[in-house]
Amino acid sequence: MRSFVHALPKVELHVHLVGSAGVDTVLELARRHPEAGVPTDRAELERFYTFRDFDHFLKVYWAVQSMLKGRDDIHTLVVGLAADLARQNVRYAEVTVTPYNHLLDGMSGDELLAGLASGRAAAAAMGVELAWCFDIPGEKGLEGARETLAFALHERPEGLVSFGLGGPEVGVGRAQFAPFFDAARDAGLHSVPHAGETSGPETIWSAVRDLRAERIGHGTSCTQDPALVEHLVLKGIPLEVCPTSNVRTQQVSSIAEHPVRQMLDAGVVVTLNTDDPPFFGATLEGEYLAVASALELSHSEVARLAENAVLASFLPNQRKTELL
Ligand code: ADE
Ligand code: ZN
Repeated sequence: MRSFVHALPKVELHVHLVGSAGVDTVLELARRHPEAGVPTDRAELERFYTFRDFDHFLKVYWAVQSMLKGRDDIHTLVVGLAADLARQNVRYAEVTVTPYNHLLDGMSGDELLAGLASGRAAAAAMGVELAWCFDIPGEKGLEGARETLAFALHERPEGLVSFGLGGPEVGVGRAQFAPFFDAARDAGLHSVPHAGETSGPETIWSAVRDLRAERIGHGTSCTQDPALVEHLVLKGIPLEVCPTSNVRTQQVSSIAEHPVRQMLDAGVVVTLNTDDPPFFGATLEGEYLAVASALELSHSEVARLAENAVLASFLPNQRKTELL
């Protein structure tokens, strides 16, 4: 199964740029920005990077975020992600970028865009095509939504395909962001909010109804509502399932207990993804292997999961055909 999974041309639809930074990348950034206080010694950094709980995840996430000062740092991050993807035969990825957080940290929009563009060109040279999802950090409220939308629509960088919403879900209703998603959709961006990762099925309903979600980030809790599952199947709305992330953040107790089994049995379009891979000790190949093992999937069922991701992507049809 391992070599079969490796050989599949794969697509990743849910990975956060800041959350993709591996130890090598963070070491490079920490040595470039020693004032950030992030360990510059590999063994110490590996200890710092060992997941303990969700609060610790946030601490490391913000430490990485704080070292991103300019174009070179963004370039380093994108190239590090592309190298990880290339090693796993991942040919295409839709990468979530949260521009508002970088702007808040004092980076100029031009520096961010220059790093994304040069990183994307370097990734293409490695055989990995990258597209961008610009997402609203939900915890920053409507101001974050306004700035994210303005940045996306005014800059409209090459490769930008979608508009998202991340961060906490509890206390951050999806519906308040409807006008921003309407405007993004009118401008041709696809709607891909997180929903049902850390809250119940009502959040997924709101993502579908209020934000007209074309895919759902996570969607873990959908199986608590059979009518919602039926709706997702009927409308063909794919889920970006991130099994290891859900286990590590304690949303589910194990991959075997993950509702991905019920999702597949019900006919939901399931795609497998990593979310914040090095933080959770995840790789895309590892997600396929873990789910295949826990659910005792056949080779053709595993291939179907990879095909789902190609079909659920926002690639043009011609490129989809090449990857199927
Ligand atoms: N941003 C980075 N990782 C995230 C996650 N797991 N859920 C929501 N927003 C995120
Ligand atoms: Zn996510």
